[in-house]
Amino acid sequence: MPMFIETCTAPTNIAVIKYWGKDEARGLNTPINSSASVTLDQDDLCAMTSIAASSDFVADRLWLNGKEEDTAGNGTHAKRLRKCLAEMRGLARDRVDASGAVVCTATELASYKVHVVSRNTFPTAAGLASSAAGYACLVHTLAKLYNVEEAYEGQLSTIARQGSGSACRSLYGGFVKWVKGRKPDATDSMAVCVADQAHWPELRAVILVINAGKKETPSTEGMQTSVETSPLLAFRAESVVEPRLAAMEAAYRARDFEAFGKLTMQDSNQFHATCLDTYPPIFYLNDVSRQAIRLCHAFNEHKGRILAAYTFDAGPNAVIYCEAKDRDELLAFMLHFFPPPRSGVESYTNKPALLKAAAAMP
Ligand code: DP6
Repeated sequence: MPMFIETCTAPTNIAVIKYWGKDEARGLNTPINSSASVTLDQDDLCAMTSIAASSDFVADRLWLNGKEEDTAGNGTHAKRLRKCLAEMRGLARDRVDASGAVVCTATELASYKVHVVSRNTFPTAAGLASSAAGYACLVHTLAKLYNVEEAYEGQLSTIARQGSGSACRSLYGGFVKWVKGRKPDATDSMAVCVADQAHWPELRAVILVINAGKKETPSTEGMQTSVETSPLLAFRAESVVEPRLAAMEAAYRARDFEAFGKLTMQDSNQFHATCLDTYPPIFYLNDVSRQAIRLCHAFNEHKGRILAAYTFDAGPNAVIYCEAKDRDELLAFMLHFFPPPRSGVESYTNKPALLKAAAAMP
């Protein structure tokens, strides 16, 4: 019986203008504000997904980091997988061989059950955008499997968004904006590449893995509570994000690190302020995260200008953007205060110490 297999990788992305909050009512995963991120294009910060489709398979199955998920159940990943699969099956086209002969019709292909195996090369669910890379990779691999061609630019990103919001941004490299969109069917809520990686090749991200454990409050649940209870979040979405996005885009285009860095830190701080403003409050940052923030400011003060800019997603781990010329000094400074563990990464989980300092992006 025929079997088709595709394997792809997708990078993670770290937002510099955060997405937090979505319109649950429509079930389309549309955000309450537009957002922007930088894609971290590095082998040890990506998701790798293999998908096999066969007429012999009796059920759609999913293994995440070696553990099988119940795809028929009500778990988050099960529901998201079903959603993305249904959308992608609807776009399937005939599979053809090198000579153009049809080897499997779209209808047949879409009727086959799939086995999905996905792995992250970095801590999952620790606020390092693992779901972004994971769902971008799922959609990209399905697109290859089903020989999908976008009917309009950005169509795949609108599907990735329905797996995980931030995933739509991981389909592109460089500086990527997720435009909130206005259409009732949300087909215009998609990611667009504002400037590719080649535009600012000196940009680097240093990652301080402070705790590789699973976060206490998953993003989806956290942002839902924030939308319901935080007046600051509503104010942010209405009045802060749009002008800040425009300024951020201009800073990136001009490769103005001072402006880019300041906006990045301010936006991370405001995002975590909305988490505190949520009732009951959500604490993603811990004492070590706050120490990293102080150190970053101390580094900049010592240098007399902004050369390093921290940002934190829904977890305690810091991503510090800098330029290539400053990376080694920044790393040395951070490692002086957070020496790496001697007995391996695992032993530091849940302890207030730096696990790993990696420099992302080539
Ligand atoms: C803080 O994309 O993980 O990283 O759409 O519910 O899957 P879901 O949420 P998710 O949220 C990411 C939130 C963030 C900010 C960001 O990446 O923009």
